Amino acid sequence: MQVLFATSEAAPLVKTGGLADVSGALPAALRREGVDVRILLPGYPAVLRHLGGQPIVLAEFDVPMLGRAALLEGAMPDGVPLYVIARDDLYARDGGPYQRADGADWPDNDRRFGLLSRVAAMLSQESSPIAWRPDVLHCNDWQTGLAPLFLQLDGTRHAPTLFTIHNLAYQGIFPADSLPRTGLPWDVFRMEGVEFFGNISFLKGGLQTADRITTVSPNYAREIQHEPLGFGLQGLLSWRAKDLTGILNGIDLATWDPGTDPLIPRRYGVDSLLRKDANRSALREVMGLQAVKGVPVAGLVTRFAHQKGLDLLLACVEQALTLPMQFAILGSGEPTLEHAFRDLAARHPGRIGVRIGFDEALSHLVEAGADLFVMPSRFEPCGLNQMYSQRYGTPVVAHATGGLSDSIVDATPEAVAAGEGTGFLFHEPTPPALLAALGRAAAAFGDRRAWRRIQRSGMARDFSWDAAARRYASLYRAVTGTP
Ligand code: ADP
Ligand code: GLC
Repeated sequence: MQVLFATSEAAPLVKTGGLADVSGALPAALRREGVDVRILLPGYPAVLRHLGGQPIVLAEFDVPMLGRAALLEGAMPDGVPLYVIARDDLYARDGGPYQRADGADWPDNDRRFGLLSRVAAMLSQESSPIAWRPDVLHCNDWQTGLAPLFLQLDGTRHAPTLFTIHNLAYQGIFPADSLPRTGLPWDVFRMEGVEFFGNISFLKGGLQTADRITTVSPNYAREIQHEPLGFGLQGLLSWRAKDLTGILNGIDLATWDPGTDPLIPRRYGVDSLLRKDANRSALREVMGLQAVKGVPVAGLVTRFAHQKGLDLLLACVEQALTLPMQFAILGSGEPTLEHAFRDLAARHPGRIGVRIGFDEALSHLVEAGADLFVMPSRFEPCGLNQMYSQRYGTPVVAHATGGLSDSIVDATPEAVAAGEGTGFLFHEPTPPALLAALGRAAAAFGDRRAWRRIQRSGMARDFSWDAAARRYASLYRAVTGTP
């Protein structure tokens, strides 16, 4: 089975969020299952640097309406084969993969991801410019949404397509006059095509035309078939329900292992949880928090975006300080939220520590050093930090939504007694509900034996990619009709 995995980010080369973690780990897990997966990425500066000064040029070819492009060949740091689209005018620029350094979207994202989609489609056709031909094209999120549509329009023999939704809130919406810049013909600008309330939606193009659709948790697969989490596409998604599957993400057990993590000062395991204290001390030091015995540190690592429910925390965090509790918060994103959190830290020195920025190493220290982890997400397709946290013996306080519900077991007294409770779920995305869950966590933290049980139950859970990889592999077989 040969699979082309088209994605706009992949850790450790380029990462803005969970899509990169998935793209960095799932292909390797699939290869362990015997699937020949190869990654297709745009040639951003970090990707070109990784390929080195003299990359292998596999092919140069014309892309209809989008000019000439070259395909480079290399490998991810873990050895997964990698194809890179070289188009310096579109990808080789400083800043993020989607945005300028100041946070504004690149004005030519229609062309940039139109090209990614088109090349993914070309490599999946019989007329591909390279010899290796996938049996399945696996697309991820709106940036690759037009690929299945290009294949359908072309009409020649091509690989079947699987489309994974990592987040339905990002749809790749552009004004109608973008159409020629994406390389699509005007006749797809209809309701059954890419038209979406007068604009173009890359995501809708993919969801209409992919052979199979997956999303990153079973619960989210149900939620997106209804208002409000369908974000306008609930009708289309429920119409396609028989082709839609939820597969819970795994985590990269090598990168996220408290027993071997090189980014934390003191490594530990399920039988050496006392050593976690040294990480708490280091985290307090970095975040400027007071060293007070018996007060738990609540950690957050997050994009500052509406999705993540940070306004709920802002509304109740001062009351939470009296539980008592300290906060160690790492994040970046919307300027108003960055401002609000900076302000909060300034008002509560020693009790709330905030670091604005994207800091991989510090994110590991928060997982290891915090006593509990907070995820008040309004919605969360899967979420990865709750799984990292459980593995790091850091129970999670979370809104029961999407993949958070699928991966956290609420620590009711019965669940704790049964050795199953791993976190504290709340059901309404409101500040009082969050505060109550923080209160439950603080009370449990005070009960040493119960707390250790919750930590150990979380650490014992299997969040490896193997189960998910097997499910993707069986979908690949289903979509190609392979027994
Ligand atoms: P999303 O993709 O919606 O942001 P996920 O939970 O799936 O949510 O994945 C987020 C990933 O990005 C995690 O690996 C998390 O640790 C990381 N991350 C988010 N914000 C930061 C930050 N400020 N610094 C370092 N890592 C971050
Ligand atoms: C998205 C979602 C997140 C998910 C990630 C990887 O960014 O917001 O919940 O974990 O994709 O699938």
